[in-house]
Amino acid sequence: MKKPNEIVAARLGSPLAIGVGEGEFFIASDASPFLEYTNNAVYLEDEEMAIISLHNPLNIRKIKDDRLVSPYVQELKINLEQIEKGGYDHFMLKEIFEQPHAIKDTYRGRLLTDEGIIKMAGIEDHMAKFLNANRIIIVACGTSWHAGLVAEYIIEELVRVPVEVEYASEFRYRNPVIDNSDVVIAISQSGETADTFAALELCKKNKMKTLSIVNVVESSIARNSDLVLPIHCGAEIGVASTKAFTGQMLVLYILTLKISFLKKNIDKNMFEKKIKELKKLPKLIKATLSVESEIENISNTFANAKGSMFLGRGFAYPIAMEGALKLKELCYVHAEGYPAGEMKHGPLALIEEGIPVVVLAPRDKYYEKTLSNMQEVISRGAKVLLISNKSKDEISSENVWKTIEVEKTSDELLPFLLTLPLQILAFHSAKNKGYDIDKPRNLAKSVTVE
Ligand code: M6R
Repeated sequence: MKKPNEIVAARLGSPLAIGVGEGEFFIASDASPFLEYTNNAVYLEDEEMAIISLHNPLNIRKIKDDRLVSPYVQELKINLEQIEKGGYDHFMLKEIFEQPHAIKDTYRGRLLTDEGIIKMAGIEDHMAKFLNANRIIIVACGTSWHAGLVAEYIIEELVRVPVEVEYASEFRYRNPVIDNSDVVIAISQSGETADTFAALELCKKNKMKTLSIVNVVESSIARNSDLVLPIHCGAEIGVASTKAFTGQMLVLYILTLKISFLKKNIDKNMFEKKIKELKKLPKLIKATLSVESEIENISNTFANAKGSMFLGRGFAYPIAMEGALKLKELCYVHAEGYPAGEMKHGPLALIEEGIPVVVLAPRDKYYEKTLSNMQEVISRGAKVLLISNKSKDEISSENVWKTIEVEKTSDELLPFLLTLPLQILAFHSAKNKGYDIDKPRNLAKSVTVE
């Protein structure tokens, strides 16, 4: 080692901050880790390097031509908490708006377009188990369970293997019929949910191959699974799960595409087309997030209603349930997610003058049917917020209270976009009420007890 007292840090792509303390320096991707030691920081530009050595001032140079750059030392005026929130007042909003980036982090290194393959380190050596599975069982709780339900629609469509999505809290106690020809997938953001962990242990006892989809890779669920697929979406702090939900759906979708292609259910052309479309998702998410102000304006109605309903068909149904869950947990009002086609079997009786109803009607094969269910609630007095996707055709349905259109994409990717207005709706409804959005009452981020 020629210069043992010297550290060189270079920036290319990802951020790099140097904390300048009293006789000490800190290197991090942002200021939060060193804020408790110094609030003086230098942010490197791309293609700059910092040469840090004991007893010498900070030396910054351009990598290309070794030109000296005089360091601009900023005095940070923000506190630790604000820095972590990246300028947002709430973690939840920050995490909602991080989704374009988080989605990229989830698929980074997995979609090898040039080679026409999907690589999923962690399961590559075990693909035979997935290809030969007689059944896939998904266990999860809350929002993670909704991600599993969306996957059920997509796996059954593209892989043609039966999928069962189970609440972990029910599955673990009901002596389920399982054997080692099944594959179990446990989904958990925290990787610490007690019920999901117990469900996984039950499967292991029955000699099933266990795969977990987690955000926290050091977690108990990850450590106790045979295989792990991380969602890599960065720390999620808000109790309401947002970016982890889209990350979970994405990992499940990528896994589905891979199995479907290997089983020859889709050909190479179709496979490549789907991957190409998938790579547009971050941009489409970003564009869709611009509906925020429209939603903010109507959130008052949901915040002050005595209850609301969220309706959808196909995979829009689990997204409807997810929207209702978000509103319940943040805004403390009753909300129910229901399959649009089931309303006439009971819940239609709940519809009365002025009740807000969200109808998710993407222009997929269910579109006409969902619009007709929507008219059933409108004619009973519901105030309908219709969420669909952009198209050259106008929506020809009458007496809709408000319409929000997400971007255009393939049917399989619509769940990602339909989710966004619902996350924003829950956020602004709770903000309207002045509630603690990041820490709703009675709830915890990781439910480590039963
Ligand atoms: O960490 P997990 O994904 O296992 O957590 C499961 C649920 O507790 C969680 O998704 C919960 O429903 C969220 N707070 C909903 O926003």
